[in-house]
Amino acid sequence: MKNILVTGGAGFIGSAFVRYMLERYPEYNILVYDKLTYAGNMDNLLPVHDEPRFRFERGDIADRDTVRRVLSDHQIDTVVNFAAESHVDRSILQADAFIHTDVVGVYLLLDEAKAHGVERFLHVSTDEVYGDIEEGKFSVETDPFAPNSPYAASKAGGELMVRAYHVTHGMNTVITRGSNTFGPYQYPEKLLPFFITEALEDRPLPLYGDGRQVRDWLYVEDHVSGIDLVLHKGVSGEAYNIAGEDNRCNIDVAHQMLDLLGKPHTLLKHVPDRAGHDRRYAMNCDKLRALGWQRAHHWEAALEATVRWYVDNAWWWRKIKTGEYLEYYKRQYAARLAAAE
Ligand code: NAD
Ligand code: DAU
Repeated sequence: MKNILVTGGAGFIGSAFVRYMLERYPEYNILVYDKLTYAGNMDNLLPVHDEPRFRFERGDIADRDTVRRVLSDHQIDTVVNFAAESHVDRSILQADAFIHTDVVGVYLLLDEAKAHGVERFLHVSTDEVYGDIEEGKFSVETDPFAPNSPYAASKAGGELMVRAYHVTHGMNTVITRGSNTFGPYQYPEKLLPFFITEALEDRPLPLYGDGRQVRDWLYVEDHVSGIDLVLHKGVSGEAYNIAGEDNRCNIDVAHQMLDLLGKPHTLLKHVPDRAGHDRRYAMNCDKLRALGWQRAHHWEAALEATVRWYVDNAWWWRKIKTGEYLEYYKRQYAARLAAAE
């Protein structure tokens, strides 16, 4: 392993992985290949911009010719695929881009990686492929898929193609299924960065339904250390859960965040629920732990560090909260907030 292609490396988790890998492995070269959709942001890569082992090419994973050229020009031996449309609410409004990237894009990237003779292909997936998990249960890697949102279904489709390329073509593949990730540089459409940045401006926080939905919160640095371990030690053809093992409901998360900011809980507004909203995600990650992983960050300190980062880095999110973002905000929240209790 020497020349690693990180697709989607200008996004939230991909950029954290790039920063982590360049620091941890002085012998690796990293090429980020990213379409720079609304969620891709070169500011996320500013900390590594001057690093000679870092390169960037703009492109779509569903553009076969460009993927082929990039694999060859940079003598890529390893692919780590983060590229995706990643926001559930957007997939409910319109799912075309999700099928394009999370299904067709994954297939084309895999196919070109196979043709080029890539030695290792890691695909980043999600706990949402398991669907809604009843109280008391924790998903294990052999559980059947039951995706409920168009986003989750597209991620399940991409994953199954990775599996098929391993079984049919003998490709050396591994899959990670991460849980709900939070931390610095997360696009402010996702619950925590959205609520933190809105609360800083004393704006209403639209909480879907009763706010009692449970997510398994994973700090981004723990997510990328899990991916690193699976990349190096995971068994080919296998999938690994990466769980924060911090199962908390949205309303409690929001209250804790507001307390850290010293803002009133009355900013929270209960709005009509997300369609098809999964009530609970929860995973078992014994399989990853058996490879030697343990999380290094615990909820309270990680939440505090995250809140502090958005307070200290308003330059980063203020630039984003313009243009397309405001259009999306209007489509997603105007009617909901008008109907708020
Ligand atoms: P993100 O939306 O912040 O970043 C996605 C990146 O992919 C962006 O830089 C975007 O420009 C790029 N991209 C999108 N379409 C592309 C295409 N066709 N070709 C090339 N690049 C493209 O997402 P994220 O939260 O960092 O998630 C990264 C991966 O991790 C995704 O595969 C997601 O499904 C998965 N995941 C996310 C979470 C989470 O909580 N955020 C949890 C588990 C798994
Ligand atoms: O579980 C892993 C998944 O986590 C990833 O695969 C996805 O890419 C990532 O976006 C995330 O999906 P969620 O749907 O869980 O994340 P989101 O931040 O959109 O929502 C978290 C919870 O908060 C969910 O129960 C919905 C709720 N929510 C979200 C928003 C944006 C609200 O109540 N109000 C909101 O405005």
